Amino acid sequence: MKFDAPAGINPIDRLKVVGKATDRIEGPLKVTGKAPYAYERHDVAKNQAYGYLLGSAIAKGKILRIDIDAAKAAPGVITIVTSENAGQLAKAKMIQNVAKLLAGPEVEHYHQSVALVVAETYEQARSASRLIKVDYEKAEGRFDLAEQIKQDAGKEPAPPPGGGPPPVYRTGDFDAAFAEAPVTLDATYSTPDHSHAMMEPHATIAAWDGDELTVWTSTQMVAWAVRDLSETLRIPPAKLRVISPYIGGGFGAKLRIRSDILFAALGARLARRPVKLALERAHIMNNTGHRAATVQRIRLGSTRDGKLTSIAHEGWSGNLPGGRPENSVAQTRLLYAAPHRFIALRKLDLDLPEGDSMRAPGEAPGLMALEIAMDEMAEKLGMDPVEFRVINDTMEDPEKPGRPFSHRALVECLRQGAKSFGWDKRQAKPGTVREGRWRIGLGVAAAFRNNLLRPSAARVRLDGKGIVTVETDMTDIGTGTYTIVAQTAAETMGVALDKVVVKLGDSSFPASAGSGGQWGAANSTAGVYAACMKLRGMLATKLGFDPAVADFSDGRIISGEHRILIGDVAGNAGLVAEDSIEYNDAISNDQQQSTFGSHFVEAAVDIATGETRVRRMLAVCSAGRILNPKAARSQMIGAMVMGVGGALMEACAVDKKQGFFVNHDLASYEVPVHADIPHQEVIFLDETDPRSTPMKAKGVGELGICGVSAAVANAIYNATGVRVRDYPITLEKLI
Ligand code: MOS
Repeated sequence: MKFDAPAGINPIDRLKVVGKATDRIEGPLKVTGKAPYAYERHDVAKNQAYGYLLGSAIAKGKILRIDIDAAKAAPGVITIVTSENAGQLAKAKMIQNVAKLLAGPEVEHYHQSVALVVAETYEQARSASRLIKVDYEKAEGRFDLAEQIKQDAGKEPAPPPGGGPPPVYRTGDFDAAFAEAPVTLDATYSTPDHSHAMMEPHATIAAWDGDELTVWTSTQMVAWAVRDLSETLRIPPAKLRVISPYIGGGFGAKLRIRSDILFAALGARLARRPVKLALERAHIMNNTGHRAATVQRIRLGSTRDGKLTSIAHEGWSGNLPGGRPENSVAQTRLLYAAPHRFIALRKLDLDLPEGDSMRAPGEAPGLMALEIAMDEMAEKLGMDPVEFRVINDTMEDPEKPGRPFSHRALVECLRQGAKSFGWDKRQAKPGTVREGRWRIGLGVAAAFRNNLLRPSAARVRLDGKGIVTVETDMTDIGTGTYTIVAQTAAETMGVALDKVVVKLGDSSFPASAGSGGQWGAANSTAGVYAACMKLRGMLATKLGFDPAVADFSDGRIISGEHRILIGDVAGNAGLVAEDSIEYNDAISNDQQQSTFGSHFVEAAVDIATGETRVRRMLAVCSAGRILNPKAARSQMIGAMVMGVGGALMEACAVDKKQGFFVNHDLASYEVPVHADIPHQEVIFLDETDPRSTPMKAKGVGELGICGVSAAVANAIYNATGVRVRDYPITLEKLI
């Protein structure tokens, strides 16, 4: 189905099933242990052996020699994979990974995979890995972002990897406008490296059958996994099957294939039996990707009555040579009006583990800086921070005047939030509200994240009993995909929710948009809608009804006087329809599609210890139609928790001499626990965006984290009068 926006009235608009706060249909499986993760699939691939990965002990240099003799002779060891016996296949760089997954002879980052030990048990594999002797030749590495920024000073931003113009965007004359502005702000902010810290580690079971490979794994993007495995192992996609029905969190960590999947496949080939491999927690920090640290300089120039005339946002971040920068300036190109603008993104080479996407890559760290800057500027102007944002709202792309947003309700989000949160009780002067030993403050921030359109396919089967089975390779990373897909099929086919069976996460199903960039919900359901509409057409045609007129309700197809059970039309043989949603590029080119929101936070800071407690949180979202308010709220509050982590505790500690993240476990990489999080409120504006997809929905999975940390920082400032521009805001920065 080709989607030509805007969508007219369609079967989804009935909202009998879609739009309802429905419980997760796979929930009972999850809470009764019947939704196993990849590593727990003891029922597949008989005779599984265990893998254990050995990571490099140096961050940069060469492997001179690997001695595996002692390890090979250890009890239970079946085989050992290294760069010396993996052949050419494993040495290839995969298109989406920056570093090779297998080190040797060059080592590109700490804990880059050096060897896989395969043994009868996990303990035997781990124990044998300690007997591998690796001689390294260490080389000088670059591990200090601040140092690299210093050396880069005065240079022009480099072109992005793969070519193209350097990411510098100029509108009007920033320098002149900023020089003339009566009120200005020039401040620099920093955000640290973050780890996804998802619950389920990267894990895979790989089994070969001749030249055919099946992997049970944990991935957000089944089709990408097939493509990347096919390229790396040089086997045709048709000989590969990737299965990933249940996933314990992704946050961007599982967009691309990592060592678990490649080494399970290589190990299984050498061992001639299935191999299972999970990355240990330390390897998740140093062997895979993370959100790269940023430094951001923001300059704002304003008239005395608070109209921004000039905005500059420069972002710096590091990554391995060839890697992408963290796009911390993304939101600043679209969020506030100002005729004179200068936006630049700079990437420095670092030899730390690979920087990669993490929940709202770009906007999440970008808004951590921009939304403090807006708070600082409002204070300089003597304006309320909500009002200051409202008067600088724009209904068109600030870099391309005349190009509208498909829908934009930032002002409503701010106003509704202020009203619901009791913002009028905020004291503008910081440090003035006290309750016993606590100083109390309120903070606000805007939220912004783009809405991306991606093709997505699905297959729908209808059997003689009227059961609708949906098959798509779409994943549910804990987001509620099973449920919104079922709601979409039930609504479109006019059947009850319990008449729908949803099968996800299998490359033998049609390729979906996958779970990334908060595009999963809107695009994958649009693909299911397309397939269901095709099936409706087949049913109508079979009966000689006009598909444009036939209605589907109560398990029946209805046309004039006729009310016929759809199962009866399908008959014993059943009916199958497959289709995909496809978009005209013009939809995204002519109109800017984004999601908007506001975050309000009340924080209390202990006058003696500097301990911060978040007391209340509210988010208001403008994200098109909300397909399932319960699942969407769940996405929002989870993201808000992550934003509190970003504000107060999360940071990978960089060892600038040895070049690795020191706190590579969940004891020392701190994330919020239940006791850190207060009651959270979420309000969704009642709206649709007919230009997004036929579902008229957008995403919230990443919007939820955007701006939260700055709202916390601004609440802390309002409480204490201490402005911290360097995240996380730990207590020693407050006292
Ligand atoms: Mo997302 S960071 O594309 O999972």
